[in-house]
Amino acid sequence: METKRFEANDLKAAATLLRQGELIAFPTETVYGLGADALLPASVKQVFAVKGRPSDNPLIVHVANFEMVKDYVDKFHPLTEKIIKNFWPGPLTLIFPIKKNSLDPIVTGGLSTAAFRMPDNKITLKLIELTGDPLVGPSANTSGKPSPTLAKHVAHDFNGKIAGIVDDGATKIGVESTVLDLSGEVPTILRPGAVTQNDLQTVLGVPVELDRHLVKESETPKAPGMKYKHYSPDTPVLMVKPADWSRAIAWAQQENKKFALLAGPTIIEKYQTQAAAIYKYQNDSIEAATHGLFDGLRELDEKKAVAVILAQTFPADELGAAYMNRLKKAAAQNYFTSNT
Ligand code: TXA
Ligand code: MG
Repeated sequence: METKRFEANDLKAAATLLRQGELIAFPTETVYGLGADALLPASVKQVFAVKGRPSDNPLIVHVANFEMVKDYVDKFHPLTEKIIKNFWPGPLTLIFPIKKNSLDPIVTGGLSTAAFRMPDNKITLKLIELTGDPLVGPSANTSGKPSPTLAKHVAHDFNGKIAGIVDDGATKIGVESTVLDLSGEVPTILRPGAVTQNDLQTVLGVPVELDRHLVKESETPKAPGMKYKHYSPDTPVLMVKPADWSRAIAWAQQENKKFALLAGPTIIEKYQTQAAAIYKYQNDSIEAATHGLFDGLRELDEKKAVAVILAQTFPADELGAAYMNRLKKAAAQNYFTSNT
């Protein structure tokens, strides 16, 4: 199969293919999604097959406006309107209880709830409108690989396997949306993203909880997808805390390990002469690190001579909670310590 490239001016052709049951990857402000018409179960099934995704891991239903959600939801949480008004379109996925049989169990993993999101990307909103149906959209990567933040990442994983990719350059944020469960009384974050616990509490004026697994690692996550070992490059990743950099570099040299650096300019400039490869975030901010994380992991993972990737950590609050959540998975929770 030839994987076509679509741009903003040929969305009609992409929408036609989606209606015919083909898979088309689309851009969002977080990461690229692997799109299929959410109302065509055979196409949704194909999404699982192409990604190699476990079938008990439900998909997000992407809509062009809030009206589209109303066809499926059984009961809205009292705070829904306030949340939508403040955060949609945007990097916030909402979980609601759904009407029986309104979505195929292949979409929901057989759950009585479903996830909905209105992405903040004009091209993709237009694509959904032209298709006329909502689109499922898991991140457009092979299961277990870092999520795609550029069309070339999607092509790397899926060239020849899907009908097309809508290219809109680099995604703005770089990590997947916040998943907020609104199916119970207390709004609960199942996956941290760019809309933070603080952002939600400030706007809503009520407590917003974190799923138990985000507080204590031994707990089972409520979002099925959070239990899988995600975002995992082939090269081992070690997280390095700010105070440990010089010791980490000395250790790698002593052990004769060719290492790569994944960090902001300040750290890179200090240690790059010793490194076998580098990926430099655009600046030292948490926003730049989040934007570059998956591209950096993918790029450094291609460098076959590298034995270990040393990656910069950030305080796990605000956007840092999302960055550290993804980095910890990529690093299989491993930090550099003086007895590494
Ligand atoms: O930013 C994003 O959310 C991207 C872009 C493409 O929109 N999409 C994305 O999809 O990250 P995916 O499939 O990789 O992640 C969806 C997450 C999974 O962890 C899944 O288990 C969870 O949402 N989820 C979906 N439906 C759920 C439900 N009914 N209850 C609990 N968790 C659910
Ligand atoms: Mg994913």
